[in-house]
Amino acid sequence: MNLAQFLAELESLQSEAAAAFGSAADAAALEEARIEFLGAAKGRLKATQKGLGAVPKEDKPAAGKRFNEVKTAIEAAFAAGQERIASAAVETKAGPRFDPTLPGEPLRLGRLHPITQTIEELKDIMGRLGFTAADGPEIEDEYHNFEALNIPQEHPARDPLENFYLSVASGQSPVVSRQLPTDNGQRRLLLRSQTSTVQIRVMEKRQPPVRIISLGRVYRPDEADATHYPMFHQMEGLLVDRHVTMADLKSVLRMFATSYLGEDVHIRFRPSFFPFTEPSVEADMHWHDRWIEFGGAGMVDPNVLSAVGYDPEVYSAFAFGLGIERLCMRRHGITDIREFYRNDIRFLAQF
Ligand code: FA5
Repeated sequence: MNLAQFLAELESLQSEAAAAFGSAADAAALEEARIEFLGAAKGRLKATQKGLGAVPKEDKPAAGKRFNEVKTAIEAAFAAGQERIASAAVETKAGPRFDPTLPGEPLRLGRLHPITQTIEELKDIMGRLGFTAADGPEIEDEYHNFEALNIPQEHPARDPLENFYLSVASGQSPVVSRQLPTDNGQRRLLLRSQTSTVQIRVMEKRQPPVRIISLGRVYRPDEADATHYPMFHQMEGLLVDRHVTMADLKSVLRMFATSYLGEDVHIRFRPSFFPFTEPSVEADMHWHDRWIEFGGAGMVDPNVLSAVGYDPEVYSAFAFGLGIERLCMRRHGITDIREFYRNDIRFLAQF
């Protein structure tokens, strides 16, 4: 074989291999072509290499050089075929290839529950009026839920049908009991029925002046309907100082109401009764042609101040307890309190 023949053979080998690797439709066809051209034992490149031995001695360097070039080119054509088939496989699996010029899809952000948002807003409003937030436990004892609030043992508000008492067997978790659990010489426990408990917890620890709010869950075995739920939230307010009067209470509630709903709100007090305030009122708001009751309030009873060691001759106090769901419902025109707790994303996503 002379040099020209050898080079011609290399040329056609290169173009045939390039065509085969370039047109293989899948990995199996590519592998077949690889064996045909690059196979270690019977591959055509190997066979052509054998022809090198027959080229005259003086032409061998040129023939060898060309052979190496062609071998590199064929191997590159095979690698290109592999890449082409691999990326085609990705494309069929993942659909069309990613197009970075398309506009992005907006991320769906989570949000806070409307009651949580309301709590944050109420804290903010009351914070501007100088009230700081305080907390108390949701599992309370009867002293803080009743006795210290001037609600004596035989008072109907302590009835087991009006409260979620907890019976606690030793070593076990507390369970709700529909009967009055035995007291075993200790204070009975219950899920607190009002945030007024926090008034006591705060006054036990601090000396006047006190100016706090407390927002949290309370529990009552009320039948759920459009305006009642067995678990709901209250905002308690307490201000203890010298010379505190009903006028201060009314101003604070008016400022609160106009901050939350707007300047066109009116406040009205109706006489009422709570064992821990004297006098006691129901506070109503007039907004957009409707009156709504938003909570109870009054001047803290001297007995309550004495029970925590404050001198009622020196200090006076007002307190209020508002239903947070009712406030939020009024503001947003929500007609059924149960919507808050259905976990329907179509409702919750509106806030
Ligand atoms: C109280 O709970 C008193 N602790 C309020 C208070 C505090 C008076 C400080 C004086 C001084 P009442 O039971 O009325 O009061 O409840 C207050 C508010 O909670 C109601 O006006 C209402 O807005 C809301 N509320 C009562 N029961 C429910 C319920 N089942 N579901 C939703 N909201 C309720």
